[in-house]
Amino acid sequence: MRKLHEVLNERRAQHLYRTRRILESPQGVELRADGADLLSFCSNDYLGLANDARVIAAFKAGAEAYGVGSGSSHLITGHQRPHHALEEEIAAFVGTERALLFSTGYMANLGVAGALLDRRATAFEDKLNHASLIDAARLSGAAVKRYPHLDMTQLAARLATVQGEKLILTDGVFSMDGDVAPLPQLVALAGQHDARLLVDDAHGIGVLGAGGRGSFEHFGLRPGNPAILLGTLGKAFGTFGAFIAGDDDLIEYLIQQARTYIYTTALPPAVAEATRASLRIIQEEGWRREALKERITEFRAGATQLGFALLDSSTPIQPVILGDAEAAVTASEALRARGILVPAIRPPTVPAGSARLRVSFCSLHTASHVERLLEALADAVQTQTPAA
Ligand SMILES: Cc1ncc(COP(=O)(O)O)c(C=O)c1O
Repeated sequence: MRKLHEVLNERRAQHLYRTRRILESPQGVELRADGADLLSFCSNDYLGLANDARVIAAFKAGAEAYGVGSGSSHLITGHQRPHHALEEEIAAFVGTERALLFSTGYMANLGVAGALLDRRATAFEDKLNHASLIDAARLSGAAVKRYPHLDMTQLAARLATVQGEKLILTDGVFSMDGDVAPLPQLVALAGQHDARLLVDDAHGIGVLGAGGRGSFEHFGLRPGNPAILLGTLGKAFGTFGAFIAGDDDLIEYLIQQARTYIYTTALPPAVAEATRASLRIIQEEGWRREALKERITEFRAGATQLGFALLDSSTPIQPVILGDAEAAVTASEALRARGILVPAIRPPTVPAGSARLRVSFCSLHTASHVERLLEALADAVQTQTPAA
């Protein structure tokens, strides 16, 4: 039997040990954690809705009307009016025939891949896909072919060599790099090779596109056969859960076949009510996306001037590449000492040699918040040549 403390000590020595902060306030750009007031550039609450008064009021009203727990899976008696209304509103929002709620994005990915693939099928994965997409294909039992990040030529070559059921899996906005998958080419390749395409738009939905419909809208597209959209509700929506959007046959098929849909308790109905309030705000308050764009532009201009290595990202995810894990941890701690929270992201979450600070922006950040961040970076963090 392995000695667990030896494994843990090894991780510590490699600067890969993970710890948790205790948050003592709601999620927000200014928060209290471990006894200190901090300016945060950490969360995926991109639109600042996790602590919005209207979302909270909808949550409370939902609990009053429908109780706290759903008490059952969707297929027994857990599918309540708020769940159903939210599914219809999401489908209307993203422009598909149907949508289906899942308890988390992780489970939605597992559910879709498990339902669509088996041991005779092949999954095609971008090398930088989120862990839940990687696990989804792995657990489905399908053969897995990974292609270099965003490399459509390599993907086309791999698709051409394979017969049988094929599913291409990709992040819409890549969670650690912030760049956007080339959806027009992916949709075209899926069509040419009789493949389905699963786009995990956890970081795009609500944020990209003039109307907040995500990566598809960013390219002037809509999800629908062969493209399946996954959206998560725990990020820009500020609540919890996930959905799959697509055509009627797909959704009916998932209701019959997706094990992570069938064999789990439905989301609390109050979460669905809170999410309906978020969805209205996402549609009505375009200023939130405009504010994000302004903060991103200010940060990129300032950080570039300071000599930091940024990636080619126009989204709220703005990584500052520092190279080794120790440099990233030291930088994150130096910022923390100046009252600013930015996480260090290390392998295996990102490839070795590309450890980074993952700066993420929220609509509620102001220009002076960005200035404070830039000043702290200039003061505390050495610029590096990017490893990649
Ligand atoms: C790209 C991506 N997909 C899926 C997930 C998982 O979603 P959830 O947190 O709802 O399980 C995450 C992060 O949480 C993510 O970044």
